[in-house]
Amino acid sequence: MTDETLRAPAEVKYADELDWLESVDDGPKPYSWRLSPRMVRLFVLGSERADGLDRQIDQKWFGDRSFVERAIVTLASDRGLLLIGDPGTGKSWLAELLAAAISRNSTLVVQGTAGTTEDHIKYSWNVSMVIAKGQSRQSMIPSPIMTAMESGVIGRFEELTRSTSDVQDALISILSEKYISIPELDDDNIVFAKPGFSIIATANSRDRGVNDLSSALKRRFNFVRIPVVTNKRSEAEIVRFRTTELLRRHRIELEVPPTLLDILLQSFADLRAASAAAGSDDERLESALSTAEQIGVLEDAVLHSQFFGDRTLRAQTLAASLVGSLARRSPEDLAILNKYWHGVVEPRSKADGGEWPAFLDGGREAIATLS
Ligand SMILES: Nc1ncnc2c1ncn2[C@@H]1O[C@H](COP(=O)(O)OP(=O)(O)OP(=O)(O)O)[C@@H](O)[C@H]1O
Ligand SMILES: [Mg+2]
Repeated sequence: MTDETLRAPAEVKYADELDWLESVDDGPKPYSWRLSPRMVRLFVLGSERADGLDRQIDQKWFGDRSFVERAIVTLASDRGLLLIGDPGTGKSWLAELLAAAISRNSTLVVQGTAGTTEDHIKYSWNVSMVIAKGQSRQSMIPSPIMTAMESGVIGRFEELTRSTSDVQDALISILSEKYISIPELDDDNIVFAKPGFSIIATANSRDRGVNDLSSALKRRFNFVRIPVVTNKRSEAEIVRFRTTELLRRHRIELEVPPTLLDILLQSFADLRAASAAAGSDDERLESALSTAEQIGVLEDAVLHSQFFGDRTLRAQTLAASLVGSLARRSPEDLAILNKYWHGVVEPRSKADGGEWPAFLDGGREAIATLS
């Protein structure tokens, strides 16, 4: 599968690790969980020497361990889990890792949009089968959530707040009754959830207000707020880990020079500080300046140097890629970037030297082109 899939789900990508963890796991497991809570945490956060394992488990999600623990506890409880945070803070990735570790299936996903209907979270009908044979369980198409209920595994709901209140209401009954009834059928018309079923939903805090969650639904979820990573060391690790992975897809084995990674992290930290200090939205970059965006900037820069450059990542290319991805609104974002380049990059390039002068040039040129 891995050779033929653009992006394998976590349970496939880490199948080896999961098999191994399962084989050494002697902790008690809630319901039909494939791993004990401690092993789920270990899979997500990686192993430390103190764990005394014969095999090193890599860290996959970077963030405070308390979030991961609360998430795991929630999934063993009666409530669903709602991961909330800014775009690109790794909510979906954490949801995928948890579902993979607990259920070995992270693909039972419903995507919340304005067009999501109740059918998408309950069931629909295979029309030609209904015409040929009538309505029956065979002619029914279960939703991913219904499939998760029937198998006692984790179902996922992405971007919950984008769906309408009808859909949210249907979810309330699923989360409290733990069954779905099928009124069209005379018998065998209730699908009960098996133990182990739960839901991990994600919501983007910038979408707040699109469809506010009802208080009835809020009560059925435990909220875990995922903050933007601001610790430079963990952020460096996330960026390095993900970029290497993404580039492997292109069969590019490239070490990102540490000095350039530093410049990237420093620029994002500066721009975040400026955003936080800004008085109005016009003085703030539209971007959330998340870790995911840093990964995007770096990936673009590397690809650009592979396709059109001499295959070495240079500071100019990095600067151009940064400006290109952050300048979404013209003139507002460009003005902010221009101010940053004048006020921060220029003095730094004089004081620190190194790759900064090249970064200064690359950014200036990119800003001039876009203005
Ligand atoms: N804390 C983190 N640990 C590991 N990877 C992270 C982290 N934060 C972001 N990433 C990486 O950034 C990418 C984007 O993350 P993800 O799609 O999970 O964000 P999200 O919070 O769901 O964003 P959105 O609200 O836009 O859907 C992922 O590929 C992930 O690997
Ligand atoms: Mg997401």
